[in-house]
Amino acid sequence: MRPMRIPPDHPLLLRIVDDLAANGWSQQNIFLTDALTLELAAECRKRSERGELAPAAVGRGLTQEVREGIRGDRIQWLEAGEVTACDRYLELMDSLRQALNRGLFLGLEDFESHFALYPPGAFYLKHIDRFRDDDRRMISTVLYLNPAWLPEHGGQLRMSLRDEVEHDVQPIGGCLVVFLSGEMPHEVLPSTRERLSLTGWFRRRGDDPF
Ligand code: OGA
Ligand code: MN
Repeated sequence: MRPMRIPPDHPLLLRIVDDLAANGWSQQNIFLTDALTLELAAECRKRSERGELAPAAVGRGLTQEVREGIRGDRIQWLEAGEVTACDRYLELMDSLRQALNRGLFLGLEDFESHFALYPPGAFYLKHIDRFRDDDRRMISTVLYLNPAWLPEHGGQLRMSLRDEVEHDVQPIGGCLVVFLSGEMPHEVLPSTRERLSLTGWFRRRGDDPF
């Protein structure tokens, strides 16, 4: 049987909306069931083994380039309608999009998301998620897919919060982090083992007239 869709007024989603309004970010350690987390992790590994993940680029459009000194992950963008587990994730994120629009009036129109695999030693230097030439990205999300992650494995997401406070997130399976794309500098520390995630961005409509 097809699982029921999570409604946009689910307490978990409302908590994320409240956190974003108050602090600009939210961390939910138990966002996904273990079963769905494992299915998504298996799907990410499968795509990696098939050679479908490509070195991630920095920037957008003509300024896009692969620079391993900045980020060493490999990615693949998600499409709807390919795999049930991915569609479940996209449906969940669409409920979150509706919750954000209702609570924060952000006018978020779509969600773009990719699998990311950081091989051992890979990192992503401190950055923000909004491009100079494209400010449609409003809210960033990172969902971790690593079942048994320990602090000594590294790979933390280090967020620079207000007043120079830093916060480290362990990339433990099922944990979701959400933050304002344009305001939250963050980096991924090198890890000693393969690190899997689904990263995504809620976007508003562009000013582009075409
Ligand atoms: C990104 C990013 C964070 C993470 O892909 O832009 O910052 O923890 N990812 O994977
Ligand atoms: Mn980022």
